[in-house]
Amino acid sequence: MSRIFKVLAIESSCDDTGAAVMMGHSVCSNVVSSQSVHADFGGVVPELASRAHVQNIVPVVDLALKQAKIRPSELDAVAFTRGPGLLGSLLVGASFARSFAISLGKPYLGVHHIKAHVLAHHIDGVHPEPPEFPYLALVVSGGHTLLLKVAGFDRFEILGQTLDDAAGEAFDKTAKILGLPYPGGPLLDRLAESGNPEAFRFSKSRTEGLNFSFSGFKTSVLYTLRPLMERDPDFVKKNLADLSASIQKNICDVLVERTLEACAQTGLQTVALAGGVAANRRLRSELSSALEKRGVNLLIPPLAYCTDNAAMIGISAVMALESGRIPTSLSTGDIRARIPIDELDYESGTQ
Ligand code: KG4
Ligand code: ZN
Repeated sequence: MSRIFKVLAIESSCDDTGAAVMMGHSVCSNVVSSQSVHADFGGVVPELASRAHVQNIVPVVDLALKQAKIRPSELDAVAFTRGPGLLGSLLVGASFARSFAISLGKPYLGVHHIKAHVLAHHIDGVHPEPPEFPYLALVVSGGHTLLLKVAGFDRFEILGQTLDDAAGEAFDKTAKILGLPYPGGPLLDRLAESGNPEAFRFSKSRTEGLNFSFSGFKTSVLYTLRPLMERDPDFVKKNLADLSASIQKNICDVLVERTLEACAQTGLQTVALAGGVAANRRLRSELSSALEKRGVNLLIPPLAYCTDNAAMIGISAVMALESGRIPTSLSTGDIRARIPIDELDYESGTQ
């Protein structure tokens, strides 16, 4: 039987401070503290995020260890998000994780945030069986939109990606045009429920291959609404549900179309959905019915593992340790704002 690694994982790439304890592929605890300080600013303010991480990290880690009923000395390693993300935020999690690991005399591992979103599918209990490599992943978050071929725990190939805004950003920025507070994605989803998705037509950006582009669409929403609001300042308020439903349809249509194209091109039979936008109800239902028609299996993790969380960092670390590879960041523990997803994180060779 393979060794069961006990790992404390820390996630601090953006505006959520998370800590989780993993026992092999099982989650013993998964604590997230979301920051409310950004709501008034219409987006995440990096400096405020770092400060809030500093305040949150000790209580969040403490709670995760208590809930897991594990003593720090029992841990095999401490994992943290090394990027991509906001440098100041990453620095708080990485510094804490490294100091904690060094004080315990344990190794520490830096984990790639986007790969971790995908590897959340391998957490025990998320699916009756974890997906078998290779499979297709659609990662849709506030910072990323990617179609990936996932051939192994550290083998990711980009099939398509956004050329400008991420899908979550497209939701948040168009929601802002409608006067909704940040983050607008979940609000648009709720408002769209009672709206007509065919009420407004916005232009779709044309992109090559399996890539995405959302900035033209955002501009189209702005230019469509500007003259209408000049005529009637209450236009948006009066049409909020229809506008939300139409915006949501536009974003989801593109995501579904490209995913179907990726399935056709690769012949892969499983699609794993990941990232915060996976919470969107239209995306879930449209994608599942479109894929079902083609006999493709769609895997959607529970919401707690879609949005930023530390359990996904933990499972990634456990899979790396199980593979026997030495994490390159074990020695340097470097953090980076941008890390290409097709760059290997782990050196070959055994530990
Ligand atoms: O993965 P995530 O928690 O954070 C990162 O960006 O890494 O994703 C957050 C994004 C935000 O843009 C948020 O508006 C969007 O996910 N989001 C949604 C929904 N829930 C969260 N977008 C559309 N519909 C939702 N229900
Ligand atoms: Zn994320």
